[in-house]
Amino acid sequence: MPRFAFINKKYIDFKQAKIHVEDRGLQFADSVYEVIVILNNNFIDLKFHLQRLRYSLNQLDIKFKFNDNLLKKIFINLINKNKTTNGIIYLQVTRGIQYREHKYNKNLSPTLIIYTRNKKFNLPGKNFAGVNTITYEDLRWKRRDIKTVNLLPNVIAANKAKKMKAYEAILIQNGKVTEGTSSNIWIIKKNNLMTHPANTDILKGVTRTSLLNIIKKTSLNLIEKSFTHKQLLNADEVFLTSSGSFITPIIKIDNKKINNGKIGNITLKLAEMYSKSCING
Ligand SMILES: Cc1ncc(COP(=O)(O)O)c(C=O)c1O
Repeated sequence: MPRFAFINKKYIDFKQAKIHVEDRGLQFADSVYEVIVILNNNFIDLKFHLQRLRYSLNQLDIKFKFNDNLLKKIFINLINKNKTTNGIIYLQVTRGIQYREHKYNKNLSPTLIIYTRNKKFNLPGKNFAGVNTITYEDLRWKRRDIKTVNLLPNVIAANKAKKMKAYEAILIQNGKVTEGTSSNIWIIKKNNLMTHPANTDILKGVTRTSLLNIIKKTSLNLIEKSFTHKQLLNADEVFLTSSGSFITPIIKIDNKKINNGKIGNITLKLAEMYSKSCING
C-alpha cells in the first residue's frame, strides 16, 4: 500500500485520504482519470496523458486548470515519498462537491486525487507472456473517447474474464470489435495491422498513439478500421495495448488459439521496439 496520496492541495497519509459523501465523482461518476506508468523512475508518455486529461475535462466542462510542470512536481514528490520505481500514478479529477442534484453549479471546486502504486510489467524478455482473453458484449455509452470513471460495463466484462481465468475481455458491438475493457485491440493478417479508428466508440489510448509512431518506422501496412469478431478469430496475431500492459500478446480468444497459442514474431518485434522507446525516452 502506498504511504501518501495527494488530495486537493495536500500530501496525506494514504489511509487517512477521504472524499466527501456528496462528491459528484462518487454519486454520478462525474469525474475523469488517467493512469500513467513509471518505468525505472521515468514517466512513460506523460505528455500524451496530460493532453488527454485536458481533452476529457473540456468535453465534460469540468473546470480544472492545471500546469503540466506543477503537476509533474507533485508526481515526482509522490514517487519519492512512496518509493515507486516501477508502477503507476493514478490521477482522478471530479467535478467537486454539491448537494445531490443532476444539474451542477458552475463554480464548483474540482476534487483532485493522486497517488502511486507499485506494479510489475509484462515486458519483452525471459518472462514475456501471452494472455488468454474472452469476448463480451460492449454495453457502454456513446462517448468512450472521454476517460471517465463511468466504468461499470467494463467492470462487468472484466469480471466475466476473471471468472473464465482470462486476462482481458474484448468488447464486441454489432459483430465488430471496439476495444478491451482497459486496452486497445490490434490484429495482424499478413503484412496488415488493423485497429479500431480513434472515434467516440473507443478510448484513444496513449500506448496506441505511441505505437502508431513506431509503426511508421516499419514496413507494416497500418489500417485504422473496425474489424469483425470473425476477423479477430482468424487473425495471424492479436495483441492489446495499454499503459499498464504495454504491448501484450493475445494467444487465446474464447476457445480459439491464436498463432497456435504462441507469441507472434511481429507482436514480439513491436513490443521490443515500444519497450526500447520507453526505456530510452
Ligand atoms: C477502455 C480503454 N481503452 C483503451 C485503454 C488504453 O489506453 P492507454 O494506452 O492510454 O492506457 C484503456 C486504458 O485504461 C481503457 O480503459
